[in-house]
Amino acid sequence: MTPAELEARQRRHVLFTWSAQRKAEPVPIAGGQGAWFVDHAGERWLDFESQVYNCNIGHGHPRLVGALQRQAAELACAHPAAVFEAKAALGEKLAAISPGDIDTFFLCLSGSEANENALKIARMITGRTKVIARRRSYHGASMGALSLTGDRRRTALEPGLWGVLRIEDPYCYRCPYGLEPGSCARQCATHLEHVLEMEDPSTVAAVFIEGVTGGNGGFVPPPDYWPTLRRICDEHGILLISDEVFSGFGRTGRWFAVDHWGVVPDLITMAKGVTSGYAAMGVVGMRPHIAAHFQDQKLWAGLTSYAHPMACAVASEAIDVYRDEGLIEAAAALEPVLLAGLEALKAKHPLIGDVRALGLLGSVEFVLDRATRAPAVPYGGPAPADSPLARLPAALRARRLHCAVRDNLLFVTPPLCISAADLQHGLALIDDALSEVTA
Ligand SMILES: Cc1ncc(COP(=O)(O)O)c(C=O)c1O
Repeated sequence: MTPAELEARQRRHVLFTWSAQRKAEPVPIAGGQGAWFVDHAGERWLDFESQVYNCNIGHGHPRLVGALQRQAAELACAHPAAVFEAKAALGEKLAAISPGDIDTFFLCLSGSEANENALKIARMITGRTKVIARRRSYHGASMGALSLTGDRRRTALEPGLWGVLRIEDPYCYRCPYGLEPGSCARQCATHLEHVLEMEDPSTVAAVFIEGVTGGNGGFVPPPDYWPTLRRICDEHGILLISDEVFSGFGRTGRWFAVDHWGVVPDLITMAKGVTSGYAAMGVVGMRPHIAAHFQDQKLWAGLTSYAHPMACAVASEAIDVYRDEGLIEAAAALEPVLLAGLEALKAKHPLIGDVRALGLLGSVEFVLDRATRAPAVPYGGPAPADSPLARLPAALRARRLHCAVRDNLLFVTPPLCISAADLQHGLALIDDALSEVTA
């Protein structure tokens, strides 16, 4: 069967996500090793997106494959209340790597589900309903997580849950308050106080924030941003929730993005890198004061595949692999290489207005004009048909670079095991593709 025949067979019965089906661009993956994957024609692609920001350990890792094989042979299916070794081990390992005193976990199947359950837990703990989230944010595709989401993926499906309020983002390149970095008083964080005053803080259960903004632009917040949110939430008895689905598991050069600022959220959500994408798992981590509530009060949450044995086994092994192979440190060490490469791209291509990086979470923002910072693609997209950005994804694919381009953003988020040489090679492919589409 040719690759085209395989694709046609699949298209006939299985939908692609987030696309009109006719326009969907398949990812042609048959296998892979490390930062590279191979398509059905045997061609190698450099994975600058870690599939969908989840394959942080890299492709084809023998220890992760081995953990799945052993677990499948031993116990592949178990009741949500089952007790088994991989589940107990995973709990211990998650407690060891989680920020501060977070030591108790709810184990589900995706980032969206983790956020759904964090929302439910916040309501159960506080008895309050409203939550505060940011504008340029993504928290998942299910209705609760989508209601928290600030970006345009929500608007097509409104109305969502009642009671989600918005605050602005720490988006220094386009400061929502028109201020310049260094000259501001962190209005993006302190504005929360104003929203609470207007809304009545005693009605707000939680503030829900991505550790570092992921798919909406890789915004790295100023150092006092997270501590300010923590202080304000503490003053009002509001839970602070860090969504680390994208920014967790070493992506930013620490286990979790909030570790950069020494902040311990009350709840933390994880997915993606927890299994490095080798099985489906979402996690809600909580501090002892939250977990204690459920000793005597019923936890109104659950699912058939809760703590699935295959996911527990591979997540448990993945945490050891991150540690043994120094992958978190590797991501931090590659940050200067990534940043220098992104700055070099910016120096060469006037289409680039800003570049940002923390660990191996790099992003490029495109503009029509550097002086006015007019976005190259209007917010929510799509890129105008005759624009260079409309041609960029195909130019990257032609160079066998798997790389996320969304609205006026491009992301550099390779597996953390990537070598400096491969990182520079991928950046050179982006350079080449940009030269082609702007020629
Ligand atoms: C920050 C963030 N939260 C939640 C999600 C949803 O995770 P999932 O797609 O596993 O449901 C994503 C997915 O990209 C994400 O980036």
